[in-house]
Amino acid sequence: MLDTDSNSSNKFLSYLSSSLVYYREFLFFNIFFILIFLILNSEFSTLLLFIISIIILDIAILYFIGKRRNKELDEIKSIINNIRKNKYQSEEEIQLGSNLLSLQKVIKKMFKKEKNDIENLQRLQKMRSQFLANVSHELRTPIFAIQGYLESLLNGAIHDKNVNMHFLEKANQNTISLSNLLNDLIDISMIESGEMRMSFRYFKINEIINQVFQEYKLIAETKDLSLIFNPANDELEVFGDKEKLRQVFTNLILNAIKYTEKGKVEVLVEEDSKHAKVIVKDTGIGIPESHLDRIFERFFRIDKARSRAEGGTGLGLAIVKHIIEAHNSKVYVTSTVGKGSEFSFYLKK
Ligand SMILES: Nc1ncnc2c1ncn2[C@@H]1O[C@H](COP(=O)(O)OP(=O)(O)OP(=O)(O)O)[C@@H](O)[C@H]1O
Ligand SMILES: [Mg+2]
Repeated sequence: MLDTDSNSSNKFLSYLSSSLVYYREFLFFNIFFILIFLILNSEFSTLLLFIISIIILDIAILYFIGKRRNKELDEIKSIINNIRKNKYQSEEEIQLGSNLLSLQKVIKKMFKKEKNDIENLQRLQKMRSQFLANVSHELRTPIFAIQGYLESLLNGAIHDKNVNMHFLEKANQNTISLSNLLNDLIDISMIESGEMRMSFRYFKINEIINQVFQEYKLIAETKDLSLIFNPANDELEVFGDKEKLRQVFTNLILNAIKYTEKGKVEVLVEEDSKHAKVIVKDTGIGIPESHLDRIFERFFRIDKARSRAEGGTGLGLAIVKHIIEAHNSKVYVTSTVGKGSEFSFYLKK
């Protein structure tokens, strides 16, 4: 009984103190009414009665305002606590009273942003650990191979003329893969940390395509593939980072050669009034449609064994995508399994 009494008197006081934030407004109105009353009626006893009734009225009004205010504050507090404790799955669950709709809207927006931020952080965290796992795995493969060949040589194979040169060549090939992988990793990390400095200028696009063709002519010949270049016009100049674009051509042309068994690898440059469209086409194994949007992901390879046998790690197209995007452009790809693939992008001229 005593408890309920003290409880309700506590509540009463808390409602009053909660509405006391409006004391200035109350004071102003009280003084205003008392002055009017004084002007109309100067009798002391009625004035006293008036003041007492105004005080009682004030207390009653303050009580109801405080009660309502506390209820609203409790609602807000409980919503904030629920957000803090991750109790909401969707913003729809956040509901405030009808007179707090604008606040409800703001809280929903805040909740949505926080949820997105958290999801992004979790995704990044996952990507980071996946990246680390991939990197370690890719490093381990050539290192183990080199270790294996060297150990066999040290254990006597060095004197066996049938295998010693072969083992040394294999060890050497693996050190080349390792160094290629490290270069690609350095490129990717520079690009993704925003440290890749681009140096844009006009240059003759035919020159770099011819140079890349020269570089890979032998590999294409050993596979009996014809390398065809269809230049738009010999003098065509494009605006971009020459060395980075050389890397793009190298990766795309090398992929076309790697993933083509017979037929041809063709580079075409088409022109419109403002752009040059570059197309790298092959008659190779093609890419299944379900993989088309994944081939630009880091470390993604359709056939891991095949790619690795060719010394690939699945970073080439990720680098291509970044470089072309840094030119404010986009890489397009179309492909038919068994018939071939076509990669294209636009450059400013
Ligand atoms: N022209 C193509 N024809 C068929 N498949 C391709 C072609 N280009 C890329 N791919 C597929 O896309 C995957 C990713 O290509 P990407 O160039 O990123 O990696 P990679 O060639 O395997 O290795 P890296 O380029 O790092 O040496 C390849 O493993 C291959 O499966
Ligand atoms: Mg590649």
